Amino acid sequence: MVRIDYTNVMAEVIGERDGVLREELLSFRHFVVEVHSIIQKEKSRKFYFCRLPYQDVSHIKEYAQHIREKFENFVVIGIGGSSLGAKMLFESLTDFNYNQKNSPKFYLLENVDPERFASVLEQIDVEKTCFNVVTKSGSTVETIANFSIIMSMLKDRLGDRFTENLVFTTDPEKGFLRKFGQEHNIKIFDVPPLVGGRFSVLSAVGLLPAAVAGIDIDQLLAGAKKMDLVCSVEEHVEHNPAYLIALAHYITNMRRGKTISVMMPYAEKLASFVDWYRQLWAESLGKDGLGQTPVKAIGTVDQHSQIQLYREGIRDKIITFIQVEKFSTDFRIPEELPEDISYLSGHSLAEILNKELLGTKAALIKSKVPNLTIVLDEISPYNIGMLIYMYELATGFSGYLYKINPFDQPAVEEGKNFTYALMGRKGYEEKLEEFKELYKEKYRIEVQ
Ligand code: PA5
Repeated sequence: MVRIDYTNVMAEVIGERDGVLREELLSFRHFVVEVHSIIQKEKSRKFYFCRLPYQDVSHIKEYAQHIREKFENFVVIGIGGSSLGAKMLFESLTDFNYNQKNSPKFYLLENVDPERFASVLEQIDVEKTCFNVVTKSGSTVETIANFSIIMSMLKDRLGDRFTENLVFTTDPEKGFLRKFGQEHNIKIFDVPPLVGGRFSVLSAVGLLPAAVAGIDIDQLLAGAKKMDLVCSVEEHVEHNPAYLIALAHYITNMRRGKTISVMMPYAEKLASFVDWYRQLWAESLGKDGLGQTPVKAIGTVDQHSQIQLYREGIRDKIITFIQVEKFSTDFRIPEELPEDISYLSGHSLAEILNKELLGTKAALIKSKVPNLTIVLDEISPYNIGMLIYMYELATGFSGYLYKINPFDQPAVEEGKNFTYALMGRKGYEEKLEEFKELYKEKYRIEVQ
């Protein structure tokens, strides 16, 4: 179950300066109906991610089982939309101590930070490791660099059999990785051509790693399907969770100056869900001088770090809390306690966590900070599937509100192209000249 409580976004609770008027929300009625019908038609094109919950995943489950039986470790090599989804599923839906208790152990190589690379290598025997190289374009520098080092290690150890420890997830036709994989007969999963990186978690990009980690991917897709069914039928903004979230953020952003969207789960397992959301919201909507900066906070830890600012600092934030009603475990505080701390007697940690959330919300209401709460009855594949779909759809819908294309990332490509030029890639000679023109280190302070 996923419940969206948007009471504290409304003007009747926090006032008209910061909150949304119900009439204002309803005034988007015709717009919503119009965009809703466009989205339904676009589900086989721009909104192709909406089709993913309905795919047949038996081949993914089968191959995941093969990996589980054959290997001691599983490493995802990818970055951005090609890693954040898998990381989010793994961290949300497995135990904190998964690697101490399970096989294959799960690792990610995202960055090209050599110390991180060394730390992963230190923990694995490459011969007993399956490397899942994930890149839609097949050419992202970080991914290809990490892969190249791993491949040479595999070749040294396994000779021609190096291909058995590799599985690729990439575009069905284009890119270096596809070509290389086909030439060497490496197992390849497709990223659907119409699905961009940050919308791809429910394809093999996220599902293969999830299935290897023993996550029930059928339940994940069942949750996404349920959200799709609700959102396909409900055109009314007050009944459609994705449109509601999009509009609450859009109105508070464009009409109330809330340029920052904080997401603050009161469950540490959902920390990576926020990382995934940050990319989705930022890379999709940060265009044409528009968009909201997504910020991560964790309850209760950041109550002791950020809430002062959220309440009394610049009035530029809308906050989304995520509350979990039932945790997989809980601990009770003893009955017998010294008088000074006896108010805690018999209460549980989960109870304190959720009471602290209530306390924080009340404090924010007093300061008139718009906040909405997503309540999950538990952290389960089904609920995470619902959340993923809801946020992807909210992001796609927001593209129409902001009148921008949520599915491209031209500003990211620019940085990638300069990097190719700096690394001496053929065909990027002009880009290198442009770089030299642009980039000067003129004013500096150095302290030794
Ligand atoms: O959402 C996106 O499209 C990007 O974040 C990409 O996922 C990221 O840049 C990695 O690209 P690729 O999958 O081509 O390696």
